[in-house]
Amino acid sequence: MFSSKLLSFLALAAVHSFTTALAAEQPTITPAPTPTIAKRQVAGGSGTPILSTLRYEYTALPYQVYPYAVLRGPQFGFNQCNSTTLGPNSNCQTLIFNGPDDFCLWGSPDSNGLIGNVEAKVVAYCTKPYHGTRVIPPGAVTGIQWTKTPGYIQAVGFIKNEGLGLDPTDQGGELDPHGADLQGNPLGGVVFSNGTTDSDGHTLEQVFNWNTFVGGNKFCFKACYNSKTTPDYCENRYDLIGCDYNMPSSAQDGEFTVCDGDVQDVVGVYTSAGQTLTWQMPDPLNTPPPYQPRVPASSNCKTYQSTDLFLAGSATFASAAASATGSAKPTGTASGAGASGSKSGSGAAASSTSKSSGAMGMTVSIGGLAGVLALGVLTL
Ligand SMILES: *[C@@H]1O[C@H](CO)[C@@H](O)[C@H](O)[C@H]1NC(C)=O
Ligand SMILES: *[C@@H]1O[C@H](CO)[C@@H](O)[C@H](O)[C@H]1NC(C)=O
Repeated sequence: MFSSKLLSFLALAAVHSFTTALAAEQPTITPAPTPTIAKRQVAGGSGTPILSTLRYEYTALPYQVYPYAVLRGPQFGFNQCNSTTLGPNSNCQTLIFNGPDDFCLWGSPDSNGLIGNVEAKVVAYCTKPYHGTRVIPPGAVTGIQWTKTPGYIQAVGFIKNEGLGLDPTDQGGELDPHGADLQGNPLGGVVFSNGTTDSDGHTLEQVFNWNTFVGGNKFCFKACYNSKTTPDYCENRYDLIGCDYNMPSSAQDGEFTVCDGDVQDVVGVYTSAGQTLTWQMPDPLNTPPPYQPRVPASSNCKTYQSTDLFLAGSATFASAAASATGSAKPTGTASGAGASGSKSGSGAAASSTSKSSGAMGMTVSIGGLAGVLALGVLTL
């Protein structure tokens, strides 16, 4: 039914995630398990719709868009989210991505969650209590660059893991509406916005194509316009190289900026010696990508105070966060996950003493440095 070409595409599209553990000296690298393509099952048959093909008006969402008990289904949470579902236990899986002062990210429904364990059931955490979801605590977001481009809107920034229910040590992973089995991560997750060009600026319109990384105290989220499908700026295949490569940005921790921007280069496409080349990401990834991502130009940037965009209040986050940060430091650029790897834009994968592994492009020290051990987990 599927060509082998499609199947290898699906293999590449597999969502990877991983957890971290403190390693003693001389950490051992455990490669991600190799998926058995022949056994892979994907949605698409009768009664098993492909998540990314489902279309809704916000006001006509069913209670669950993916109630089907097939493959990894049914979905964990629900999609009708309103004031009655607002609060810290909300399992709302409708994510709103309106603007710099009103957006949500996917986070863990369980406290101290690891993306690798919860990717199928992540729930919406929003910056404001408007959408029937959990709310990101005041102070959790410590920096952001919001960009509106001709192809998509995007947020790249810094967030305490705990603000999304994630374990402070979790380096996180990539989420998108496809997944290896095309049921999406999360299953039944849908995204709406009144900030895309598909919206009149007021009406929440569904975002068909999006991707995001969370973890390592960083995040990035991109909502592509439905009206602009080529090239695909919401490519989900480069899930081992983090935000630096998937959403290159000049976001800085401690800064809150809102900009217009040019579109980025298509992920994996770069120029070398006058030639345009396309890099395919190997899996596992043993060497850095052969190029540095270009940060697209931005303009009309406005700088805000945190409280102009986010809820006011002081942050109280577990001291574990500090030790997690400390433990990640020996790996240098990897500290913080590959959600963007590092501010330098070089990303974890660029260091010759390091190996990038897992969705966030985190670095595993292989030179005898005490560091962070990444365990690759392929979750179908
Ligand atoms: C609010 O959400 C709940 C739970 O999803 C749903 O049962 C209820 O119908 C919704 N209420 C309205 C007015 O949409
Ligand atoms: C976008 O939607 C949100 C509610 O989801 C609303 O508060 C906001 O006013 C809307 N923006 C515009 C410009 O209408």
